[in-house]
Amino acid sequence: MRPRTGIVIALLAAVILLPSEGAAQRGRSPAAQPPPPTLTPQTYTPEEIAAGAPRFTARCGFCHGRDAAGGEAGPDLTRSELVAADVYGDRIGALLRSGDPGDDHAFDLDADEVRVIAAFVHDRKAEAERVLGGRRFVEADDLGTGDAAAGRRFFEGRGRCVECHSPTGDLAGIAGRFEGLALMRRMLNPAFGQPAPAPAMVTVTLPSGDTVSGPLAYRDEFRIELTDAAGETRSWDVDDVEVAIDDPLEVHFELLGVYTDDDLHDVYAFLETLR
Ligand code: HEC
Ligand code: HEC
Repeated sequence: MRPRTGIVIALLAAVILLPSEGAAQRGRSPAAQPPPPTLTPQTYTPEEIAAGAPRFTARCGFCHGRDAAGGEAGPDLTRSELVAADVYGDRIGALLRSGDPGDDHAFDLDADEVRVIAAFVHDRKAEAERVLGGRRFVEADDLGTGDAAAGRRFFEGRGRCVECHSPTGDLAGIAGRFEGLALMRRMLNPAFGQPAPAPAMVTVTLPSGDTVSGPLAYRDEFRIELTDAAGETRSWDVDDVEVAIDDPLEVHFELLGVYTDDDLHDVYAFLETLR
């Protein structure tokens, strides 16, 4: 078995980050709405989901984002009504055979491929519901309920925020730069919005013993990609190489498991005072 922690972190990151890019420009984001619930409960085996991931990446990720949460050219499938109504790939399969729109979906996939791709999409949707629709989901109207003094205590104490931040230094004026849900999301995942924080740095050690380092371009359970010194994207199967990742935002993803709902609102209320 491969270690899973990195994957969980990457998934949380993706869920919070990916749907947000456009959202920053649009103000009130679609993320303010919970994803439409899956109409018919379905279960997929971990093997099916794992088999679907690389197929989705190869065929769909280019447009829909590698975690199905939306990309440059395709919508967020975790919020799709069609996906919510899909049962074991029936609707997704029909769409993929249809070619619509404009040949984007003219795929010649067999039933097994459709099923595992559907497994992956439903799994990403379930994750989005868990993270955004569950206790991580915050309504815009519900943002004003925190206690700023308690937030400051968390900031200086249990949250250890002061190890890296200062309310009068780097975070001074943060509430002027991000408002409402955007501030909440920036706080949870600083990769949301602009300026983009420094990317994680990766060092890959090849079987030959040579190493290649550079900013992380992509990672999932199977693959790791970085941008090398020449500006080329290079990619490996994680089983073939040793990978060391130094991610300045790692602590932020760990914090997702530390915050209680009250902490989230309290810290938000505290950051709101930094104008
Ligand atoms: C070339 C870009 C592109 C590729 C590749 C692509 N899609 Fe799409 N997909 C789109 C666009 C654009 C739409 C939105 C269509 C619309 O709104 O009419 C869409 C819509 C969808 C929808 C419906 C979303 C909704 O609620 O309306 C699903 C499901 C979907 N795609 C699944 C997939 C899957 C699975 C794959 C891979 C097998 C895939 N797509 C590959 C561009 C793409
Ligand atoms: C180990 C270091 C570390 C800790 C601890 C940490 N952060 Fe961060 N934080 C970062 C990094 C790195 C960034 C990316 C931006 C940067 O370089 O300042 C960031 C960015 C942010 C931003 C966005 C700042 C901006 O200017 O847009 C907010 C808000 C934030 N963190 C809140 C918190 C809160 C609240 C806590 C504690 C609950 C916390 N952070 C703990 C490292 C940390």
